[in-house]
Amino acid sequence: MASIPFLPEISLQNSKFEYLWAAKIVLFLGLNGTKRRVLHNRKTDFIRILFTFAFYKDKVKMSYQNLLYFVEQGLVTITINRPDKLNALNALTVKEIGAAVAAANADSSVKVIIITGAGEKSFVAGADIGEFEGLSEQQAMSLATTGQEVFKSIENSPKPVIAAVNGFALGGGCELAMSCHLRIASDNARFGQPEVKLGLIPAYGGTQRLTRLIGRTKALELMITTDMINAQQALELGLLNYVVPQAELMNKCKEIAVKIMAQAPLAVAGVIQCVNDFANGEEGFQSEIKVFGYCFTTADNKEGVAAFKEKRTPVFKGK
Ligand code: COA
Repeated sequence: MASIPFLPEISLQNSKFEYLWAAKIVLFLGLNGTKRRVLHNRKTDFIRILFTFAFYKDKVKMSYQNLLYFVEQGLVTITINRPDKLNALNALTVKEIGAAVAAANADSSVKVIIITGAGEKSFVAGADIGEFEGLSEQQAMSLATTGQEVFKSIENSPKPVIAAVNGFALGGGCELAMSCHLRIASDNARFGQPEVKLGLIPAYGGTQRLTRLIGRTKALELMITTDMINAQQALELGLLNYVVPQAELMNKCKEIAVKIMAQAPLAVAGVIQCVNDFANGEEGFQSEIKVFGYCFTTADNKEGVAAFKEKRTPVFKGK
């Protein structure tokens, strides 16, 4: 990814051709008038640079630390980019997802948003457990509040958001996918809410959205056993719209996006709003925040997180 220092917040896609032109633009903008004239004494050079920049303008991506943001023909693809941590959601990544979705909604050229994970193994393997250690009850509640706010901003986005689930969607990853309007998964995807294994509960809206999407019988089973299910099982439970081979995942998402883009955007937004209004119980979300905060006062939470880090089975004492 090549950043252009003179144009903060903007960088071009990573291809040799684009690097070349990014370098030319940087060079041009960075030079003073005399040197510019020496290096770019042909007017055509300058015009070519401007035209090239204008041509790539619709593909430029916002600059994020943990996300890739790519716009093309009305479709934004947001890729969570921490593959060495299986794209686990640390606080910064959650914040950046909120900012990226807001940016896509503010861009009048954008019609549909896709959210996916970098690599072929994981969509998102949950909230970043490494950031859980030592959190106070208040800090945990604040974490859950921010997570819920960002995921609600996805659910309430007037532009449809498609989750392209390309591997593990666990904990916060499953919650992220559930906050999207459509979910399309590759055949290697795995879903689960393993939080109770860490002495926690799903608190980015998971207890509410999973129950709404697949019903309380299966939702409770999955959350209190921490069983992981495969893509086919998730499809059968109503958690997914489609399952496709991994190589076809993005094409399938784009195919659906193109169908949506042909519709009236305000009517599409209206459908989203009405569907969201259907049984939008706020109390459950508030309970999640309180119980999540309480979890951080328990010894079992500390034991669960320590056991994960030490790669051993936790020993819970119910305290
Ligand atoms: N938070 C922080 N780091 C995570 C993570 C998470 N939720 N999930 C995975 N990682 C990290 C691992 O610690 C490991 O980092 P390391 O190489 O520095 O040790 C790296 O990602 C690869 O994960 P690893 O466990 O080695 O891969 P695996 O293929 O053996 O197992 C999972 C994959 C998804 C089954 C396993 O990583 C896991 O159970 N993750 C936690 C899932 C979870 O509980 N999510 C809910 C959190 S609230």
